[in-house]
Amino acid sequence: MRNLILAAASVAAMALVGPAEAQSPIVIKFSHVVAADTPKGKAAEKFKELAEKYTNGKVKVEVYPNSTLYKDKEELEALQLGAVQMLAPSNSKFGPIGIKEFEVFDLPYILPDLKTLRKVTDGPLGAKLLKLLDKKGMTGLAYWDNGFKQMSANKKLIAPSDYKGLKFRIQSSKVLEAQFRTLGAIPQVMAFSDVYQALQTGVVDGQENTWSNMYTQKMHEVQKYATVTNHGYIGYVVVVNKKFWDGLPSDIRDELSKAMKEATDFGNSQSAKENQEALEEIKKSGKTEIITLTPEQNEAMRQALMPVYKEVASRVGQPLIDEFLKETGRSPMN
Ligand code: LMR
Repeated sequence: MRNLILAAASVAAMALVGPAEAQSPIVIKFSHVVAADTPKGKAAEKFKELAEKYTNGKVKVEVYPNSTLYKDKEELEALQLGAVQMLAPSNSKFGPIGIKEFEVFDLPYILPDLKTLRKVTDGPLGAKLLKLLDKKGMTGLAYWDNGFKQMSANKKLIAPSDYKGLKFRIQSSKVLEAQFRTLGAIPQVMAFSDVYQALQTGVVDGQENTWSNMYTQKMHEVQKYATVTNHGYIGYVVVVNKKFWDGLPSDIRDELSKAMKEATDFGNSQSAKENQEALEEIKKSGKTEIITLTPEQNEAMRQALMPVYKEVASRVGQPLIDEFLKETGRSPMN
């Protein structure tokens, strides 16, 4: 795969210095792994529309949804090598390339709502985290929402003990690994595009994701139960290849930044509604039973997952966790 990415990267580099450069538009390949009809997919389309409009067609944005170009693990490598120019991976996916700080977003119950999330991402901590991307050859442009994660399996998931011994697909995050181990479950890292089949064939018993991702991947067709847990958050960091971004004419970069800001506001204002609509569609399908926890059952889950904070403190960084909690104005224990 690495050779293929390298070949794509050198074609992209030739296109930048080719003789037709004066007339041909600057192409931004924007790869992502989810369906077009999701919060990320729609924000990417909005960015394309605005970027092409504001640059009068001097920039062409090609959006590749649904892992058509790259799967989870390859995406960031492709960006670093310049085979694609823009991505929006989830926070959980930066650990394997050595930026484990973004895994702080994976901590169970760290965010009570989207308003609090916005406070973190729009504030100094959000800016500090984006700066960490520079040393990996990327520039962080924005935080995009998906929403809160829910649990699903072929077994009813109510009490923490219900998770014991079940295999769950996870994204490649050590915090998510610790989360499922704490429940006595067996986490298995897997690319997003492989989840449906893994659930269908029983390679894993369950998974966690947002309603919009579950619905658009048809996971509800192969899971008997889903529990409204809102136990974690999935959001994205929009990243560009730094060399590409820094090499753009400054007027173009300014127009693209404006397009990004507006696409971000658009996407983040719609995400909660899109997840709610996906939940309604799942209910309507009648294929998955939706389980709602009582406040006591919810609290039991939260308490069961609190040990994760200590367990990952040395990896994610206790000062960072403390700073994050301070910004949210809450301790995980209350
Ligand atoms: C996942 O792999 O479950 C998600 O990160 C997919 C996505 O980008 O929303």
